Amino acid sequence: MMTFRTTQVYPVIWNEDHVLLIDQNRLPTEYALVEISCYEDMAEAIKTMIVRGAPAIGVAAAYGMYLGAREIKTEDRDEFLAQLDKVAQELRQTRPTAVNLFWAIARMLKTAYETLGSVEYLKETLLKTAKAINAEDLQTCQAIGDRGLEVLPASPAQLNILTHCNAGALATAGYGTALGVVRSAWHSGRLARVYADETRPRLQGAKLTAWECVQEGIPVTLITDSMAAHCMKHGLIDAVVVGADRIAANGDTANKIGTYSLALVAKAHNVPFFVAAPLSTIDWEISSGSQIPIEERHASEIYQVGDTILSPAGVDFYNPAFDVTPAGLISAIITEHGAVAPAELKQFQAKQLV
Ligand code: MRU
Repeated sequence: MMTFRTTQVYPVIWNEDHVLLIDQNRLPTEYALVEISCYEDMAEAIKTMIVRGAPAIGVAAAYGMYLGAREIKTEDRDEFLAQLDKVAQELRQTRPTAVNLFWAIARMLKTAYETLGSVEYLKETLLKTAKAINAEDLQTCQAIGDRGLEVLPASPAQLNILTHCNAGALATAGYGTALGVVRSAWHSGRLARVYADETRPRLQGAKLTAWECVQEGIPVTLITDSMAAHCMKHGLIDAVVVGADRIAANGDTANKIGTYSLALVAKAHNVPFFVAAPLSTIDWEISSGSQIPIEERHASEIYQVGDTILSPAGVDFYNPAFDVTPAGLISAIITEHGAVAPAELKQFQAKQLV
């Protein structure tokens, strides 16, 4: 049995008969927990980004499926499954890009369809499955973090790593993917410092990644997104590690808007660019990144900060929340089973299944 290294940051917690979510919209100024007792509230929490980050959304949706199942008032199995399909449909409508959402819902549905017994027993099994998805993600992230150490540059002895957005404990069940690699590097004496892109427009880097690092005493320097090229040119960055929302079968990777420009800049400066993600983030049904649906969010994320309006009336806005980094710009994808060149993803997956 693996023992979990605690980061003491668990964004999704099952608590007796409800879910507690860390309200990520209130960090870093306020640490608050939101109680979620029905699937409609879970769907709203995902939409409004109280919970965000691909794996964390998956875990939250799994609990959402159970909460929805619990509300269904029939003893008839077929009727139960029909109503559960509707719950799944509503949860799927929350955010389009992160594949972990669809993956977790599909796993919960498969469990329901394949479990024999009473409706009561199905409900119990669904809760167990949601808890298993939660626990597995924590374990997977720790494995990603540790496997990341195998591919980080051997020198200098202590690395300066740049990351984008928040792919940390807050974005997963705990520990993080990209920030999991940073954590493992820190715990094994291989990290000098993490540079965090602030990540406009929602500022997940400034608000969440910086907060997580401060909680744990990891040295962190916050920069604006436009400073990355300058930092690389001046030799401040030894490697870039980012997370992923969806990886196509050819290795093209959707992640927070700005990741693509970061990859281009890294290539121009010969800085290795790593994507850290669980195998569940790979969408084998799509052959390339052009098929990944990109979420567009409200323009107010661009023109407003708090109560302050930043731009004049009459301006048009475009606010894609994610972009796709072509596989050719990615040095390796770090998974729980080790790192792999994007071009070798398929063979790599086949090996894990043997
Ligand atoms: O819009 P968000 O905050 O949900 O976007 C999060 C990201 O882009 C993360 O990098 C990605 O989900 C990986 S999280 C381990």
